[in-house]
Amino acid sequence: MDYDFGFFDVPLHRERGDSVKWTQFGADVIPLWIADMDFRACEEIVAALTRRAQEGCYGYARDSQAAIRAMIAYHREQYGWEIDPEWVVPQPGVVTALNLFCRLLRETCPGRSDVFINEPVYHHFMSAAQLQGIRERRVELRPFGEPLPETLPDADGAGGWMLCNPQNPLGHLWREGELRRILDFAAVNGLLVASDEIHGGLALDAPHTYLPLLSLARDDAERRRLMAFVAPSKTWNVPGLGCAFAIVPDPTFRAHFTRDYDNLIPGINLFGWVGAEAAYRFGEPWRLGMLAYLRRNRALFEEAARAWGLPLCRLEATYLGFLDCSSLAPWLGGESPRDFFLRTAKVALHDGAIFGAPGWVRVNLATQTATLRAAIERMGNALASLRR
Ligand SMILES: Cc1ncc(COP(=O)(O)O)c(C=O)c1O
Repeated sequence: MDYDFGFFDVPLHRERGDSVKWTQFGADVIPLWIADMDFRACEEIVAALTRRAQEGCYGYARDSQAAIRAMIAYHREQYGWEIDPEWVVPQPGVVTALNLFCRLLRETCPGRSDVFINEPVYHHFMSAAQLQGIRERRVELRPFGEPLPETLPDADGAGGWMLCNPQNPLGHLWREGELRRILDFAAVNGLLVASDEIHGGLALDAPHTYLPLLSLARDDAERRRLMAFVAPSKTWNVPGLGCAFAIVPDPTFRAHFTRDYDNLIPGINLFGWVGAEAAYRFGEPWRLGMLAYLRRNRALFEEAARAWGLPLCRLEATYLGFLDCSSLAPWLGGESPRDFFLRTAKVALHDGAIFGAPGWVRVNLATQTATLRAAIERMGNALASLRR
């Protein structure tokens, strides 16, 4: 199978199915919001799932060691990251793992359970802290240039840092020096660091790439204060299969995750295992083709943002463009840019406010180029009429 532009150009017609993204708004709306792609999955995943479905046998399945081995081998080959199989705790999703991390802080760091998160960041970082009854402290990121502030905050009363690597919604690929700063800050202040690496397979351009946080640990003592959450879901567009992994080197912290796995939260469902194994073993040609397609879409959107005079973060990873619409405020009369584009352009975007950046919108570029072009045209027309 050739995963060329022709493959990704074919629409899935998700509006006829059960897609959250495509059925939330009216049929006249182009949905560029929630983070999944409008691309057909790679044929090897489809074939593996079909084979498994045809067995007609859907009883309890044991955890798939083959999928775990495939995940480990993939990270070793791509990133030189050596994951010990003992560190792996399966998870039905990364949001679950974020919650378990916050719960771990609450249980193991009494009196200093606050968690650092960045702002803006994927909204479930906030909800995880709130739901687990710990306080979040926001470290504001600069949207352009180096995101981390010059001076990191006082860490009194804090027990952890929850990092988004690569960063959603800024699309930033953390450089080694930036990650090192966070690790050193954590070491000095005795913080645990959890790194959400769900977008790791979506680095768009060489030479920068995704750096797994754990691969930077200098020694075992440092590694044991870190954990990472990885998944095939964003990279291969299989989030509906519900499969993720918490990588937790420290046995005591890991015990908090294994305690909840199966007792409280469901195991990965059998199709999640099958899809994950196929993705990690056979999904590389699809991933490379998809990234090339995304680069084309990114170029189109960058050109549009320039023409509109709206600043766009440099999209180094993920397929989520982050657009600064705050200069539109004088024309919007209090309406958010997200509501404005939905109402007048019939394009559904994510409101930056939910990530901690009001006045911004997040635009999902992982759709057919023709769909993106149509959305750009509608948004351009809406902006032209607004500013007239
Ligand atoms: C940074 C980040 N983490 C986690 C998730 C969701 O993970 P899951 O569906 O595995 O719970 C997303 C989805 O957009 C995300 O962007």
